[in-house]
Amino acid sequence: MDSAAALTCQRGQFNIPAGLHYLNCAYMGPLPRVAEEAGVLGLRMKRDPSAILPHHFFDTSLELRKLFSRLIGDADPTRISIGPGVSYSVAIAAKNLPLSSDQNVVLTYEQFPSNMHAWARKAQDINADLRVIGPPDTIHRGASWNTEILTAIDSATAVVSLPTVHWTDGTIFDLVEIGRRCREVGAALVVDGTQSVGALPFDVNVVRPDVLMCSGYKWLLGPYSVGLTYFGPSFDDGEPLEETWIGREGSEDFEHLVDYKAGYQPGAIRYDVAQRSNFALLPVAVASLRLISEWQPARIQAYCKGLTGNFFEEVEELGFTVEDAHWRSAHLFGLRMPKGLELVELQQALKARGVSASLRGSALRVSPNVYNDAEDVSALLEGLRQAVAV
Ligand SMILES: Cc1ncc(COP(=O)(O)O)c(C=O)c1O
Repeated sequence: MDSAAALTCQRGQFNIPAGLHYLNCAYMGPLPRVAEEAGVLGLRMKRDPSAILPHHFFDTSLELRKLFSRLIGDADPTRISIGPGVSYSVAIAAKNLPLSSDQNVVLTYEQFPSNMHAWARKAQDINADLRVIGPPDTIHRGASWNTEILTAIDSATAVVSLPTVHWTDGTIFDLVEIGRRCREVGAALVVDGTQSVGALPFDVNVVRPDVLMCSGYKWLLGPYSVGLTYFGPSFDDGEPLEETWIGREGSEDFEHLVDYKAGYQPGAIRYDVAQRSNFALLPVAVASLRLISEWQPARIQAYCKGLTGNFFEEVEELGFTVEDAHWRSAHLFGLRMPKGLELVELQQALKARGVSASLRGSALRVSPNVYNDAEDVSALLEGLRQAVAV
């Protein structure tokens, strides 16, 4: 595939049921066909356990780390840990990042609970301040919301833990600026990339987060229960949640596992979850990441942008409101309802046309990907027109 050419619709690479207009990748990404097949082969490995050799515990994990590290700006693959999801990685971050009672933690309003509870508990236990920064009460809120976040980060900030884009409506957070501000005041930056990494470029060398964590089952088009997390150098000597045998130095040598070692495997491997070598799920994640690295996040984002054409002008004419284009991602955006629109009517109109999108807070969240085409967007538009007409 020509890596500079625009992407064409990739629906043929998926087994999405005919008639389904799936505009809901922010809920869950469908598995590409090759990923399904890789999963079946992975499951079948246990037909003959004697054929599962020590190197199988390491090879696929390393391949997965390499693919993900390339996707986020050619990080060192050993900086990538394999876990079950964001909550697990937030727990590692909260366990290791220092916080004292005269300090604060900065979060955004209504961010996904996995990136909230551990901070709320830590702040409460230590009696530190939890600063949850809300959006302004305006239609276009991205610019001033970002300014408010920057203002909230001060010399007493120990940790800033934010998403790349807001999970309910795709508002973009300017993590380059936020990262710069964090370094200025000495705060750690923890980023939840679940709702954009894979579909929108992200470079750890530019943002320089301490942690970038991603659940794999949405924009990485992977299986449920496999998450990937980058840990920067500040985590090199940290404590994992679990003391796994495979995270220890020399774990490749199965005959000497009880010559217990004090040292860990390099980088972030110590943070891997127990049984991270999952023979059925890791090949699925690898197959999907290979496709995404061929498609490239910048081209996926451009493809999603191309899908919507004059869609936004049309929905605004119907009375929906949307974020300013600069602060809204193309793969995930929210349509805020016109006054008086009955949500039940909207849900029925979309369902009748086979349109899958999610209601999140006060917005209809639409999240296309490379398998969508103009027909999917037309079906959505028809559903919106009908709901408004009732
Ligand atoms: C921004 C964000 N982070 C994380 C998750 C999932 O969290 P976890 O991996 O802890 O299940 C979601 C799920 O919707 C999400 O939207």
